[in-house]
Parts: sequence; C-alpha cells; structure tokens
Amino acid sequence: MKNKGVNIVVVGTGYVGLVSGACFAEMGHRVVCVDNDVKKIKMLKKLQMPIYEEGLEDLVKKNVKAGRLFFTTNVKDAINYGGKRAEVFFIAVGTPPRDDGSADLSAVEKVSSDIAENMSDYTVIVEKSTVPVETCLWIEKTVKKHNKKNIPFDVCSNPEFLKEGVAINDFLKPDRIVVGVSSKRAEEVMRRIYKPLSNYPLLVCDVKSAELIKHASNSFLSTKISFINAVANICEKTGADVELVAKGMGLDKRIGPAFLKPGIGFGGFCFPKDLEAFYWLSKQKGYDFEMLKEVKKINDEQKNWMVKKVEGELWNIHGKTIAILGLSFKPKTDDMRFAPSVDIINALIKKGARIKAYDPAAMANAKKIFKNKIYYARDVYDCIRETDCICLVSEWEEFSSIDFNKVLRLVNHPLLIDGRNFYKPEELRALGFTYISVGRP
Ligand SMILES: NC(=O)c1ccc[n+]([C@@H]2O[C@H](COP(=O)([O-])OP(=O)(O)OC[C@H]3O[C@@H](n4cnc5c(N)ncnc54)[C@H](O)[C@@H]3O)[C@@H](O)[C@H]2O)c1
Repeated sequence: MKNKGVNIVVVGTGYVGLVSGACFAEMGHRVVCVDNDVKKIKMLKKLQMPIYEEGLEDLVKKNVKAGRLFFTTNVKDAINYGGKRAEVFFIAVGTPPRDDGSADLSAVEKVSSDIAENMSDYTVIVEKSTVPVETCLWIEKTVKKHNKKNIPFDVCSNPEFLKEGVAINDFLKPDRIVVGVSSKRAEEVMRRIYKPLSNYPLLVCDVKSAELIKHASNSFLSTKISFINAVANICEKTGADVELVAKGMGLDKRIGPAFLKPGIGFGGFCFPKDLEAFYWLSKQKGYDFEMLKEVKKINDEQKNWMVKKVEGELWNIHGKTIAILGLSFKPKTDDMRFAPSVDIINALIKKGARIKAYDPAAMANAKKIFKNKIYYARDVYDCIRETDCICLVSEWEEFSSIDFNKVLRLVNHPLLIDGRNFYKPEELRALGFTYISVGRP
C-alpha cells in the first residue's frame, strides 16, 4: 500500500488505539501511539503486546522496524516526535460506563486539553472512541478553552467498528468507514488518511450523524442478539429448535443471518455500555427510547440462563465442582470486561460451588478478577477433571477438538451445559452425556 503518509498521533493504546495505530502505519502513515499507562508503553517499546489480538504482534513489529510506528507516554512528547509535527490526533481512550449508565468522558476531556496546550499549527482532532452524540462539540469547547495561542483546528468524528479477535482484518477491510467533518479542510485530511482503503465505502457526513451512527449500530446489534435470545426462551418452552428458527429467519434478506446466534447474552466493552449510554442520552434529550431498556433486561436475564440450568441439573450447587470453559467475553480475545463468565462464576461461587476455569488467552486477566477464589486450570482436561458439571461459556476453536471419550473418564458426572450451542446434541448424548444447550430440544 503506497501513500504519501500523514503524521498521526493516536492517544490511547488499547484494543482500538493500538490496532488503529498499527494499521495506520501499515497504510503508510507515520504514527506515534500515546498511552499514560507507563507499563504498557514500556512493553510496546520492547515489542511485547499488552493485549491478545491475532496478527497484532507481527504488524507492530513490522511497522516499528520500518520506522513508521513509535510509542510514548504523553501528548507533549508525541506532538513533535523525532522532529516531525503531528497533523492529526486520534482520541482512542476508554469511555467506561458511570453508575447511571452515562459514558465517563473525563479521559476524552483530558486528552483534548493536552492536545490544545501543545499544538503549534493547524491540527485535526479526531474522536475515535465510542461517545454520545455532541461529544465533539464538547471537545471543541475544551480545545478552545486551552488553546491560548489561537491555533486553527478542526474536530472530526471517526467511530471505530472493529471487532476484537478479527480487529486487524476489520480495520484494513472495513464494511464502511464513517467520517463526520465540519470543514472541507478537515475532510481533505481525512480522505488522505483513508486513501489506501479507497476500495471500501467511505461515508462522509456531519459530525453529529457520525457520532450517532456508532451508538445506533451497536444498539441495533444488541437488539438482534436479545431478540434471538428471547426467541430461544420461547423455543425452550414449546419444543421448537431456535437454530432452525434463526436459519429460517436469516434466509430472509431483509433480516440476514448475522447476529441471530442464541447464547448466554452479550458482554464485552462495547455492547453493554453503548446500549446504556444511548438510552441515557436519548432520555436526557427528551426521548425515552424504552425499547433499549427491554434489550438490556432480556440480556441481564439471559446471563442467568447458565446458572439456572446448572441448578436445574445439580439440584444443590453447594459443594459441587464446576468446570468453566472459556472466560473471555468471546473467543479470540483476552478481554474480560463485562464478560458473561464473570457474572456466571460469581453467582456459582455465591451458591457454594468450587470453580475450575480454563481459557486459551484470558487466564492472566481472569486472575486479576477472581484472585484466589477459583482454580486456574492448565488445559481443558485439567479443568474438567473430577467436576460435576462442565459449562461452555465462550466457544474457542480449541474446544471443538476436545476428546469427549477422555472427558468421560475424567469427570465425576457427564453433564455438559453448552451456552453457545457449540456442539451437536445427538453426538454428545450418544456418548452418554447429559447435554443442555440454548433453545434446542
Ligand atoms: N474494544 C473494542 O472492541 C472497541 C471497538 C470499537 C470501539 N471501541 C471504543 O473505543 C474506545 C477505547 O476502547 P478500548 O477497548 O481500546 O479501551 P482500552 O481500555 O483497551 O484502551 C484505552 C486506553 O486509553 C488509555 N488512556 C486512558 N486515559 C488516557 C490519557 N489521558 N492519556 C493517554 N492514554 C489514556 C488507557 O491507559 C488504555 O490503554 C472506547 O470508547 C470503546 O467503546 C472499542
């Protein structure tokens, strides 16, 4: 990909910022990634990855070696890194939920004032974190307040749609790129940045619409998941098979098959908080988007599905040993933020269960959450040994090649509760397992 590179700074070097930074560098730009987490930057300077994301390590190493990707701990240092002035700042810091469901935008404000205090010539400030509509207006106000030298600037919105686990592919081969701009000058800069991806749809619009596209998209996807989970519940009560129902629905082009996968509810750092933030914002603006409240309610109930099934089979949970396979909120990531496994494990512990857990990538993050409250298994077989029940919580590819004959010899009781409809019921039952899945007879 050849392109006349833009000098970019990405502030926030997490799941979004680090992937974005590495991908912008891969697109031919010169990128400085900033994070105030000194440990993270130290690791990255040693070419060690602070997160697990497939292909990221190679991409980072390649672009550092090519002299296009750099790391530092503060905006002041980044602005003229190596004597080259940054033209564009992407803000990719966290926007976690507050107790009332609104988004905590204090990191966005802090970074905006850091940029304003240090910029020396026309600068484009791009909001990439997921934020409520009108955040860019607040960024503009903040920058004006701290921009003592009256340096010209523009604020843009460029929401990120990548999915953890396939983040690099999503970034470099996106379904669409959305850019919200308020001036031709900023639009030209943004078009230059995304020129290497000109094979993919680029929607240029006003800033507020761009901000809203992200919240509306994530809330819509959450709605689809809750919808099929509600249908799964009706299937369980009637004897219908939700997999067939989803297939039949998805064949309708107006509906489509994606996100009609029943399971134990959505988690992660995006859907739960973005849904709540969108509801909160709508209400604040005078529109009670009640449907979103129901989507959240269905999801909260669905996270109880696993515990209810365990209880339904084991009767008294107290004193029983339960194996949890998969801890990350979905496969191919180590991210455990708002992972259903956390609610499930905490509920089972509260009822007196002993937990043995295994995940191919999230063990380090799990240890930070559960400390010494659970047993951390070395592998699948260590996890299921001498347990009364196996719960499949996230469907890692590794779990598709489990030797269930060996499992039968190791467990106390052959009971498998599959929260992701990952296995074929007839195969597990033929082996002698009591097998329970979501919305399937
Ligand atoms: N994770 C995803 O899949 C995903 C996808 C699309 C959008 N988003 C959105 O992108 C944003 C970032 O998400 P994430 O998953 O990358 O979060 P993250 O927690 O992995 O990364 C955020 C980073 O920002 C850093 N940071 C915080 N304050 C800072 C400051 N003042 N200066 C410098 N660095 C600072 C943190 O140390 C952290 O490394 C969120 O708004 C999220 O909703 C996330």
